[in-house]
Amino acid sequence: MSLVAAQPEPVRSSYKVEPLALPDAQRRRILDTVAQVVCRHDKDYPWLKDSRFTDGTGMVDYLFALPGDEVSPDPVFHQLRWGGRFVFASTNLGDVVEVEKLYDHEDGFAVDHTLSSTRCRTMGLPLPLLGRRVHYFVARKVTLIPKGEYTERFTFQVDLTRNHVGKHDPHGFCVRKRIPTVEDIFRRLCEKHPETEQGVLEDRAKKLTRRIFPIFLSREAGFLKLLQRDMPKAYRSHVPELLHVDKNEDGMVSELHMTWLRLGGPKMDQIEFAEQATNLLHALHESVKLIHLDLRMDNMVVTPRGVCFVDFGSAVRIGEDISKNKMMSVLFDEMMSTSQIQRLLGRMKTTGRVTSKFLVNGHGKVDRAADIFYLAMQMNQPHSNPDLKPFISYDKSSETARQFRKLHDAVMRPLDDNHPPYTTAKDLLRGIEIVKRKVQQKELKGDRL
Ligand SMILES: Nc1ncnc2c1ncn2[C@@H]1O[C@H](COP(=O)(O)OP(=O)(O)O)[C@@H](O)[C@H]1O
Ligand SMILES: [Mg+2]
Repeated sequence: MSLVAAQPEPVRSSYKVEPLALPDAQRRRILDTVAQVVCRHDKDYPWLKDSRFTDGTGMVDYLFALPGDEVSPDPVFHQLRWGGRFVFASTNLGDVVEVEKLYDHEDGFAVDHTLSSTRCRTMGLPLPLLGRRVHYFVARKVTLIPKGEYTERFTFQVDLTRNHVGKHDPHGFCVRKRIPTVEDIFRRLCEKHPETEQGVLEDRAKKLTRRIFPIFLSREAGFLKLLQRDMPKAYRSHVPELLHVDKNEDGMVSELHMTWLRLGGPKMDQIEFAEQATNLLHALHESVKLIHLDLRMDNMVVTPRGVCFVDFGSAVRIGEDISKNKMMSVLFDEMMSTSQIQRLLGRMKTTGRVTSKFLVNGHGKVDRAADIFYLAMQMNQPHSNPDLKPFISYDKSSETARQFRKLHDAVMRPLDDNHPPYTTAKDLLRGIEIVKRKVQQKELKGDRL
């Protein structure tokens, strides 16, 4: 049987809610009441500062709706951040029952708080006879992308799920990383390689799902344990902590659960971002002796505690002899020729945009150079992951950005290629200090004028 036929089209349902003829003040009162009740128990709420009602654009952590507002899962999905909550409220019980049904079995959402009722508050108080009864439910966006869509940014199936492990917010959510199904991989391969025969792609999909991905997920689980053991204490919360694993019949990890490093916190500037990311890399290389190898901005998050790294799936231990294991050595060879970072480094090398011996020699190898190269790139363009934009301020025309461009150039094309000044995270930290000093000098000069 062909794998193509096995996949039904995702169905999106809808329900027409008749708008309630409510004066604005009444609407606001219902929304405020529900917001207070729902957010009171949300431990993240104090820093989810840009939560707003359904009148805005862009991505939000909370979306509140009343009859008459958009309630279909599809548009709501595109407005919410990952883990964000959709709250629907109405004085009409039937509306809430029907809208909750839309979200109940909807891929992409989990009903977080099923149908409940409260009384509308009068001067902040839920007075029994004065307030109207308001019904509501809450759904949480749990997948990164809508069902059936693909992106080059992610490979595994990653979503949020209830955390059933006793420690770390047992009633909250954690991140679940799973091996995609054969059908999913197959469809993805078909999209990427329409010219290749379907039988070949089917075999490849099976091999990836059954043999290759479990290896990387098992390695990731091991590295997450290592990180909690060897990372300096201050940095342990800047990488995920492993909570649970499921294994397949071969004893390989098929699913892992880890702490959710939720996006949020105050906006940091380009210097803070660079400094924090480089300090974290320094701890990773020097204390844990681990090379990440895929330090794209997609694999970084900014939380109220600062910059964090995720996705240790392609990491290696410094000094690990990959060549000892035939399968691993084939896999890493392939990864070195296909990874986005390695391909970019290769292109920049051939076009003369990278001349540093350290980086040139590291190209195509399982080497620390990949992390240094890509971090230097990322600190120079910290908005390359759209999800992080609201948390990092970056002005291309600022003096800070100009100084970072200079640092980037010095990393890539040093004055003396044979003796490059930037080959470790510590070197980069020294470079960031210079950026800071130059920016301060320029500010002082500006003040004097
Ligand atoms: N523990 C985590 N906390 C917060 N976000 C995470 C966590 N793990 C993964 N993510 C988010 O999910 C995305 C996909 O997960 P990742 O582990 O990078 O999978 P893949 O290997 O498919 O790239 C990441 O880019 C990041 O945005
Ligand atoms: Mg990733």
